[in-house]
Amino acid sequence: MPKTRQILVTSALPYANAALHLGHILEYTQTDIWVRFQKMRGHECYYVCGDDAHGTAIMLKADEQGITAEEHIANMRAIHEADFADFLIGVDHYGSTHSEENRVFSELIYQRLVANQHIAQRTIVQSFDPQKKIFLADRYIRGTCPKCKTADQYGDNCEACGATYQATDLIDAVSAISGATPIEKESLHYFFKLPEFSQFLQHWTRDGHLQEEVANKLAEWLDSGLQEWDISRDDPYFGFQIPGAPGKYFYVWLDAPIGYMAIFKSLCDQRGLDFERFWASDSSTELHHFIGKDIVNFHALFWPAMLHSAGFRTPTQISVHGFVTVNGKKMSKSRGTFINARCYLDHLDPEYLRYYYASKLSRSVDDIDLNLEDFVQKVNSDLVGKVVNIASRCAKFIAQGNASVLSKNIENTELWAQASGAQQRIAEHYENRDFSKAVREIMAQADSANEYIASREPWKLNKDQAQRQQVQDICSLGINLFRVLVIYLKPILPQMAAASEYFLNDQLDWASAATPLLGHRIESFKPLLKRVENEHVEAMLEASAEQAAALQNATLAKASSSEPLAPQIEFDDFMKVDLRVAKIIRAEAVEGADKLLQLTLDLGDSTRQVFSGIKSAYKPQDLEGRLTLMVANLAPRKMRFGVSEGMVLAAGSSEGIYLLEPDSGAQPGQRVT
Ligand code: 2FM
Ligand code: ZN
Repeated sequence: MPKTRQILVTSALPYANAALHLGHILEYTQTDIWVRFQKMRGHECYYVCGDDAHGTAIMLKADEQGITAEEHIANMRAIHEADFADFLIGVDHYGSTHSEENRVFSELIYQRLVANQHIAQRTIVQSFDPQKKIFLADRYIRGTCPKCKTADQYGDNCEACGATYQATDLIDAVSAISGATPIEKESLHYFFKLPEFSQFLQHWTRDGHLQEEVANKLAEWLDSGLQEWDISRDDPYFGFQIPGAPGKYFYVWLDAPIGYMAIFKSLCDQRGLDFERFWASDSSTELHHFIGKDIVNFHALFWPAMLHSAGFRTPTQISVHGFVTVNGKKMSKSRGTFINARCYLDHLDPEYLRYYYASKLSRSVDDIDLNLEDFVQKVNSDLVGKVVNIASRCAKFIAQGNASVLSKNIENTELWAQASGAQQRIAEHYENRDFSKAVREIMAQADSANEYIASREPWKLNKDQAQRQQVQDICSLGINLFRVLVIYLKPILPQMAAASEYFLNDQLDWASAATPLLGHRIESFKPLLKRVENEHVEAMLEASAEQAAALQNATLAKASSSEPLAPQIEFDDFMKVDLRVAKIIRAEAVEGADKLLQLTLDLGDSTRQVFSGIKSAYKPQDLEGRLTLMVANLAPRKMRFGVSEGMVLAAGSSEGIYLLEPDSGAQPGQRVT
């Protein structure tokens, strides 16, 4: 057994503003397989992940829903964690970048960068939304392309003609947040002096931490000269305040990778692990990041440079994968091929996809195609047809024979030696993250096992009493070959391996492939994996297309207000809503809630307390004494700050929030119809 290694592994932290899709699942599956393999080999290995919870997009998403950013990220985290669990992604800890640990590490690293004079300050000019009072990143500016004149293009490039330009070049530019015309505004920004790390990075990117094709790509950037990296954003922003810089926040990409440290720190606190041992600059432990090819610059340039300056260790390995395509094309909402993780899980077994992805994953950064026909065929033929089939064919003879006890001898030592001897090669493929090669090798062993059983025909021999021991010996070897295959597949198929462990009455770790089970009692066989049915794949695609259409309708409705937002209802349904005129007698800010106001409403004969997400649009004192409309029979809702006893009516969109008010003369408590 090689010396035990100490390994910390991460996957990229998903943004807390959207559901996970099958592209995310590729990365978590790749990471999880590698981690499970390391753990099976007896190494001390920890896998952490969590939500990337900061930034403008998350702040706006919360706004849109009328909830606080904290509420929004808590909701998303629960959804993401459920997806992780149900795809059998065995993280040791799932955290969030919005944590006290992360604030502490982000400030610490920043302060060390400042002390090392690696932070510069200068004033820059940026587009600004004068209505929303927010600086606008390019993706929040829309306008007509200055080159081809296509309307409604982003602030940095045109999707129609591919031109790239400055947001200020757009014709009739508008803020995508409020629709206002952006103005130019100055602001002081903080920059990380990346060019000072050019030499360090020239060396680091060629020092065995990256796939060669990734290092080559980085060399192009390094050769063309690095730019200073803007790490600050202005208020309003959901993130951490920069110490000593009022109104300035760390850009989300500054504290996101630091989140790896922070999330690991909370695991250390939970389990009494030594954080320093993993992060000290002279650490002998390993640090592995798994990421997609779109975020290489953040992980392989900015991050090692920051760690180096701040006196922490740098990553051992950054493993980069390509994107997922479905049936050869970019995932598309209209074709139903933009498949959310949950939608997949509603229709199909997670192990099918884990196996399919494993069969395609290699060290390359090429995109990986989920071809759904191939997916069905491969899972059914390899897992059901080859692997599980060995056990189901042999188990019944073992059960009928020597009271479910396997033979004490190996019927074909050469075949056993071949299957058991593949262990080292397969281990190397796993170690090198060449899972497709591991799968090919495992399936080659499965083919040999099936050929052996087919050629010995135990079902024929079993008819002859004198040959019954022979049948036991053949099928016992069959079961042992099956066991070895399951050991090899265990990092990919943890659930099937657990069911097989029960059937085999044995705990499977990597080393156990060297020793067969002899004279060992097994349990009765139960089906270990069902075939994938085409109709389930079809149903998943239909559901995906429906979800995409629903989302598109909602977006259209938001934009034009001409499409229905909800299904048609009958008059009687409408009459179930008890709408009343209400007078706001008190309005106050809610401590700890960025978006909410607490309103006390007079309904004529009673008063109600309601929390409403209108703080961004109204000062509390301006609301007192005003009339509005409320839903009076809404079931009370328990919120973090108290119980909300109804809802006031307001028109709301990204363009603003407008409280509804009856014409003058209306009386508190009057019914609205
Ligand atoms: O690209 C993304 O989805 C980012 N949220 C990944 C962050 S990885 C790490 F740095 F936190
Ligand atoms: Zn254009």
